[in-house]
Amino acid sequence: MSIVPPIAMSDPPAILGGPPAFPEGLQFLRPSVPPKERVLRDVETILSSGNLTNGPFVRRLEERAAEYLGVRHCVAVSSCTAGLMLVIRAAGLSGDALLPSFTFAATAHAAAWNQLRPVFADVDPKTLTLSPDASARTMGVRTSLILATHTFGTPCAVEELSALAGNSGIKLVFDAAHAFGSRHAGAPVGGFGDAEVFSLSPTKVLVASEGGIIATNDDLLAGRCRIGRDYANPGDYDCLFVGLNARMSEIHAAIAQASLEGLEQRIEHRNELAGLYIRALANVPGISFPLVPPGRRGYRDQALLRATRPLHAGLSVTIRQERELVRYRGGGRSRPHFASVELDGQRGTTESGPGHRADSAISCLREALSSRPESH
Ligand SMILES: Cc1ncc(COP(=O)(O)O)c(C=O)c1O
Repeated sequence: MSIVPPIAMSDPPAILGGPPAFPEGLQFLRPSVPPKERVLRDVETILSSGNLTNGPFVRRLEERAAEYLGVRHCVAVSSCTAGLMLVIRAAGLSGDALLPSFTFAATAHAAAWNQLRPVFADVDPKTLTLSPDASARTMGVRTSLILATHTFGTPCAVEELSALAGNSGIKLVFDAAHAFGSRHAGAPVGGFGDAEVFSLSPTKVLVASEGGIIATNDDLLAGRCRIGRDYANPGDYDCLFVGLNARMSEIHAAIAQASLEGLEQRIEHRNELAGLYIRALANVPGISFPLVPPGRRGYRDQALLRATRPLHAGLSVTIRQERELVRYRGGGRSRPHFASVELDGQRGTTESGPGHRADSAISCLREALSSRPESH
């Protein structure tokens, strides 16, 4: 890793013409690629069979995922976004969807695609997951759905949210994009609420290259999602509702199955890396780390630093965050700024891909954080 060149706080961000902190660029991420030999063997089988979709690899993945998650049904889909869209469509919801104020855009998109109005409630500042108290205050008569995110794999306060939804007769769905392998009170994330939807995209611990899994114990909902991912075609092309093509291909399912191998070790490894960063950076002023409460296991995928002052040089932030920083500086606002960290070819602090150099990333972070003034 190159040493961060001195950059003055008065310099504009690189995207606005300032000197780049990493002139040679940074690799965005290194996915945990499943064992190549096995994938190639399976791809050979799939291509020889001519069965490219709706075949045995998808069915087997669904069975294995359901077994691992301890749920009655898993429905493999082309992405988490499509899975969330399908669940909401399959549940036949309308009105308002209550969402966390801090989540990925796809959570809100899934609601908006279904003509539900996204209404945002605050997250708990420690865990960054949807606050049940804020949800209770924000819910209204139009609310038909709570769509809560297990942020960075940290399980939500599922009991409180379940009670809130149950008492109000509304649906509870979890955006579990980051949470395959997360646990809450000893139980795997997957069986909470009416449904939970996982992402199998490259930054996750379970990788299909692109893909998603809907997990649910609701037979009716599972059946409608299964039909819905296939244009809502029940088999005779007399479509039951407006569906999607959200099928997972056989090749993606083969990659995901291979990725199930070594899953636990990868989760442990990410948590070890997170621990390393937390210990090494604990005393650096101005930052803290999201809390994974006792009894819950996340894996801090893309874990963040919570900065109480603007971060800049030495930390590569996304374009949106750079713009935010500019606004933040210009307006002299003092609210905390959240920035995920991209360093040394690694996005976040816990990417577990080959060659992760935690030591050099930590020293770079220390340097970047401790040398910046508190304000400017
Ligand atoms: C919280 C959250 N929800 C949804 C998604 C979308 O997942 P996908 O890319 O599989 O559609 C992501 C992507 O990482 C995410 O972080």
